[in-house]
Amino acid sequence: MNYRSAQVCTLLLVAVATASLPAQTPARLTIDLNRPKATASPILYGLMTEEINYSYDGGLYAELVRNRTFRSDWSGILDWYVVEKGSSAAKIGVDATTGPSTAISNSAKIEVTRADANSPAGILNEGWWGMTVRPNAEYTGSFWARSDKPGALPVQVALVVDQSGKIVARASVAVNGSAWQEYKFKMQSGAVPVSPENHLEITVDRPATLWLQLVSVFPPTYHNRANGNRVDLMEKLAAMHPSFLRFPGGNYLEGNRIDSRFDWKKMIGPTVNRPTHAGTWSYPSSDGMGLLEFLEWCEDLKMQPLLAVYAGYSLNGEVVKPGPELDTYVQDALDEIEYVTGGTDTKWGAVRAKDGHAAPFTLHYVEVGNEDNFDKAKTYDGRYAQFYKAIKAKYPALQIIATMPVNGMTPDVVDDHYYKRQQGMFDLVTHYDSMDRKGPKIFVGEWATREGTPTPNLGAALGDAAFLTSLERNSDLVVMSAYAPLLVNVNPGGMQWSSDLIGYDALSSYGSPSYYAQVMFGSCLGDHIPVSDVSGAGAKTFYSVTATAKSKACLKMVNAASVPQPITINLSGLGTGTHNAGVQTLSGAAPWATNTIKDPARIVPVASKVSITGETLQHTLPAYSIQVFEIELK
Ligand code: AHR
Repeated sequence: MNYRSAQVCTLLLVAVATASLPAQTPARLTIDLNRPKATASPILYGLMTEEINYSYDGGLYAELVRNRTFRSDWSGILDWYVVEKGSSAAKIGVDATTGPSTAISNSAKIEVTRADANSPAGILNEGWWGMTVRPNAEYTGSFWARSDKPGALPVQVALVVDQSGKIVARASVAVNGSAWQEYKFKMQSGAVPVSPENHLEITVDRPATLWLQLVSVFPPTYHNRANGNRVDLMEKLAAMHPSFLRFPGGNYLEGNRIDSRFDWKKMIGPTVNRPTHAGTWSYPSSDGMGLLEFLEWCEDLKMQPLLAVYAGYSLNGEVVKPGPELDTYVQDALDEIEYVTGGTDTKWGAVRAKDGHAAPFTLHYVEVGNEDNFDKAKTYDGRYAQFYKAIKAKYPALQIIATMPVNGMTPDVVDDHYYKRQQGMFDLVTHYDSMDRKGPKIFVGEWATREGTPTPNLGAALGDAAFLTSLERNSDLVVMSAYAPLLVNVNPGGMQWSSDLIGYDALSSYGSPSYYAQVMFGSCLGDHIPVSDVSGAGAKTFYSVTATAKSKACLKMVNAASVPQPITINLSGLGTGTHNAGVQTLSGAAPWATNTIKDPARIVPVASKVSITGETLQHTLPAYSIQVFEIELK
């Protein structure tokens, strides 16, 4: 290239770059606080969850032991290893002939042929990519066991540092005789440094044969629940102010096959009565997170349950045809609703009380199936109608969500799903503006801007926030929404679906920029949508406003462009005098900027305050920014 053509090229590049800049003239946003346009849904923001990316096992469900039911493959028992110290000798294998229950009818057989006090032998579990031990913490454990010894066999349980072999917490359990029994124990750590590089050892100090099953160790959990959840993750979810929890899926509800669906009756009561099952995301589920645990999760975060019931379609295409064949599944759903909502004088309400929760839960929404548009046999019209009729007959107040439009009837609510790149989310921003308000309400039950892995980057957060402004503006129609997937274990092999809201390993967790965008959006929501209009803004400026009279106006603005956007904001009706506003800003230097497990706080909300005197505010939206203004109305 000669000098002249290089010059032309430079000029062209400048021209192209200038053409793509947003207008630098101030945009004008007018909001008429005296003119409500529509009501805003108070339950717009919620959570969607399923067993994916080690969301529960190895994630939210705080169990430290991996493969507590001793599954095995050609290589041996997964995640468990032999311990032979000093001169001891031991062998482990699965014994298919003995187990503690009908649901779990096998066990690990540990044959210790040589051991003494200085040379113990047994097994160890590696945990979910480690086992975090914190200082001065109590670890609650249990296992089912039997031995070949008639009297008491002392069994040592210990949390052990991987690198040094040092014991950091321990317990001794006397296993009595040959009948299966459950044993419970506590282990207390001392002033040890916090670390995920630990494992669990279970050993004996004499020759013996020991059968073990359902080995469990929990750290302190959120609200100290037995069989409970990880504290850091629950705190992160609480900060989103979610109003509902859609569970248990997603694909996980449907199962790859009918017999691996979320069969809730096998996921209640003591864990020894839960057989475990194959998940849909390439790993099995311990089923420790069963129906009651989902409900207690709702209770802990003050969310209403949004119960998805299995509707006769599984991912491999297996379908239960509408009609008599489907009746069993409809009855299962009715029983499930009774388990959730029934008094203790009902059959399934009494079972729930026996499981430890006498008070019924309040339920408003039931979803029939998941993504039934994939059903090639096209049976959803009939299946939905059959569930709808039966559920409404017994529970007329329940709102029944369909997973797709239904021919022949109008569902109460239809669930829309969107997974797109940033540009695709921008394209959706006007989608609901002109939609018929006489049809079913909308639940956006899964959505995400999929840019960034394992968790979304700032560019994705900008796409997400832009999309959320459209849901807020239309929240008379869009009554609920939930991002998906919610959780990801960031260890190698932990992720099956990329761009997940919150990442974690055994030790810690972090929120993605998209997570913080949702924390900000969920922090301020009015009860109505005032009339508003914007003009002169760049194509990547988005906004929504909701307000509650005499209380607050919540203004959300997104500038997804690489340059700042000046904007004049007129709040008609604000009145004279000065009004204070809290402002939260999420921004970064580039769309690919992100948070990681090692660098969790690169992109986090920054709080500031602004005073608005009169009804006009001159403001500049920073480049690549999301801002939430909470303006006090007196
Ligand atoms: O969120 C991941 C998956 O996406 C869900 O399981 C399914 O419903 C959707 O296709």
